[in-house]
Amino acid sequence: MKIAFFDTKSYDQEVFEPKLKAAKFRYKFYDTRLNEDDVILAKGCDAVCVFVNDVVNSTVIDQLSELGVKIIALRCAGFNNVDFKYAEQKGITVVRVPAYSPYAVAEHAIALLMTSTRKIHKSYIRTRDFNFSLQGLTGFDLYGKTVGVIGTGKIGRVFIDICKGFGMKIIAYDKFPADIPGVEYKPLDTIYREADIISFHCPLTDDTLHMFNFGTLGKIKPGVVIINTSRGALIDAEALLEGIKTKKIGAACLDVYEEESGYFYEDLSGSIIDDDTLSRLISMPNVIVTSHQAFLTREALENIATTTVQNIKQITSGEECANIVK
Ligand code: NAI
Repeated sequence: MKIAFFDTKSYDQEVFEPKLKAAKFRYKFYDTRLNEDDVILAKGCDAVCVFVNDVVNSTVIDQLSELGVKIIALRCAGFNNVDFKYAEQKGITVVRVPAYSPYAVAEHAIALLMTSTRKIHKSYIRTRDFNFSLQGLTGFDLYGKTVGVIGTGKIGRVFIDICKGFGMKIIAYDKFPADIPGVEYKPLDTIYREADIISFHCPLTDDTLHMFNFGTLGKIKPGVVIINTSRGALIDAEALLEGIKTKKIGAACLDVYEEESGYFYEDLSGSIIDDDTLSRLISMPNVIVTSHQAFLTREALENIATTTVQNIKQITSGEECANIVK
């Protein structure tokens, strides 16, 4: 078994290497992303291991198939970047890591929310310059506010538990509602109308693409805080920017961005960014952007590596694997 790892950073390599050696798997780590141009790097490999911004469309899958690749192992939960139905047709098994630490992502969403509502990003910079003024730093209590949670799966539920601790009222929307104590399910439009804070925790699918759009701007409560730690394209970035510019949106906390591929995970501090929407959003005082880092805890990395290696072992040895994407 030889595996080509795409889009890897040192923190991936450090955690994967001992587990791959223990499993007696051969491997190659590439920092390049898997795409139509670089798929040739998988030559001689039985499996590829990919992350959120690798492009695994039908063209790439055709080439992987020609190279003899039998497994596409996602080292993440979301699989919107993989044409898994086409892979299945070509006899390639797609596996993923459905849960590695919902706490990591939910806690990051809360970290962004509190940074935003208490303006910690501003005060951190001020006090480093010995500016101890409080002018413009007035925040608001989370206690008693209504939070709308869109997607009440593993991450959404941890997020809800934390919000309960703050004494917030919780309303939710999910295509498949569950029975969660203290949570009232409502239609999506009602969530938009009633929530002071809206946090997205559902997957990106045809149904959820741009579920926040220009039409949503006419429904939201003025001053609403939008949090997205799920997938960028749930939100139409142009509509979000319009909402910020017209002050309908009070603040945005984004760990993901619709067009993040090509920017996120790279040091572009010396470059000219040609995405005007991203540049404008980042320049806003009430927008906080992190670079798809919500998953990045020690615990999550350990779990990702353990499950990915186990997924590949199970497929190659013909054992049942619960993490096949079907
Ligand atoms: P999950 O599968 O446990 O929960 C997803 C929830 O969304 C489910 O309750 C499902 O019923 C609901 N849902 C499905 N379709 C929907 C629709 N059309 N409208 C409303 N709700 C719908 O997934 P989990 O683990 O909670 O992850 C959620 C998302 O978080 C993932 O899909 C992924 O995109 C994102 N994520 C982001 C990370 C980051 O680092 N920023 C890391 C891990 C996941």
